[in-house]
Amino acid sequence: MFQPDLLKGRAIFLTGGGTGLGRSMALHFAKLGARLFLIGRREEPLKKTCEEIHRDGGAAAYTACDVRDYDAVETAMTTAENHWGEIDTLVNNAAGNFMARTETLSPNAFQAVVSIVLNGTFHCTQAFARRRIAKKLGGNVLNISTTYAAANCGSGYVVPSACAKAGVLAMTASLAVEWAKYHIRVNAIAPGPFPTEGAWSRLMPSQQFEEYALNKHPMKRFGKHDELTNLAAFLISDMAEYINGECVVIDGGQWLRGAGEFNDLAMIPDAAWEQLEAARPKK
Ligand code: HXC
Ligand code: NAP
Repeated sequence: MFQPDLLKGRAIFLTGGGTGLGRSMALHFAKLGARLFLIGRREEPLKKTCEEIHRDGGAAAYTACDVRDYDAVETAMTTAENHWGEIDTLVNNAAGNFMARTETLSPNAFQAVVSIVLNGTFHCTQAFARRRIAKKLGGNVLNISTTYAAANCGSGYVVPSACAKAGVLAMTASLAVEWAKYHIRVNAIAPGPFPTEGAWSRLMPSQQFEEYALNKHPMKRFGKHDELTNLAAFLISDMAEYINGECVVIDGGQWLRGAGEFNDLAMIPDAAWEQLEAARPKK
């Protein structure tokens, strides 16, 4: 579906690009011709992802940077520009999360997640957009959110993440309008469950729970990384020029499964339906 040069000429600053979905997006965007600049706190995974991209003939560079630190983000953005020239696209993918009963959280635990997800997204977005606005160049911002923020429903046991990601969505919608005059588009993706070491190690309590989650999923499967990377490539590409302020859910219908009052009827087998229907009083 995509031309191999869909993102040719583009330079993308991608946070959390060394692991999980960030790594998958980096590899995919590079295959479509983009030059990548990856950041994260740990150097090792960033280096590995860049080496993979280089082996495939792509262009990528990195620097270690903590998105919670505005000065460090500014420095990383300048390093990226020195490396690739103008950076035209920002993907805010870095995140922190864990499951916990909210009444047990310390203030620092709440702060740890919110400062990565919400403050970090703001730091990168502002550092990126200030440069683009000053030079009268447009740009693209893509924020990686979650379904429990997109659906405005929240979620127990991940309250710092739910609060922070909801803030990211508010930022997405607000800036899409405020910065449209600068030709900066701001969109988001709300992924459902996509297996990654980072998410699974922190949010999947047991094998049994994983089976339960799979069984409850309308499609009986989790997401594949290329399904998400295709959507991300489309949204940042020129093909999506008129999509602005949108949050696209990609979860196989998972959050809707929890929302519809009668969706639990899915557990009734066809044979039982036939019995129920046969027993229904006829006029
Ligand atoms: C309760 C916890 C905790 C836990 C940490 N804390 N883990 N509290 N339950 N499981 C508390 C600590 O005790 C400490 O508080 C405070 O949080 C900060 O912890 P640190 O370890 O010092 O923080 P830091 O090194 O900054 O690490 C941040 C982190 C960590 C968020 C805690 O998990 C991290 O680095 N995560 C990055 C990657 C990640 O989370 N990936 C998953 C993204 S998946 P005190 O008071 O003791 O100092 C995702 C999608 C979800 O977001 C949807 C999936 C379907
Ligand atoms: P992941 O591999 O743990 O990705 C998180 C990345 O963020 C890591 O590379 C991490 O690298 C980086 N990071 C964390 N704190 C940082 C900081 N302070 N500064 C800079 N980088 C930081 O998990 P993932 O599953 O791929 O998640 C990627 C994105 O998808 C996140 O936004 C997440 O909320 C979202 N998401 C994932 C799922 C899913 O099912 N996987 C579902 C919904 C949404 P360092 O540790 O080296 O810093």
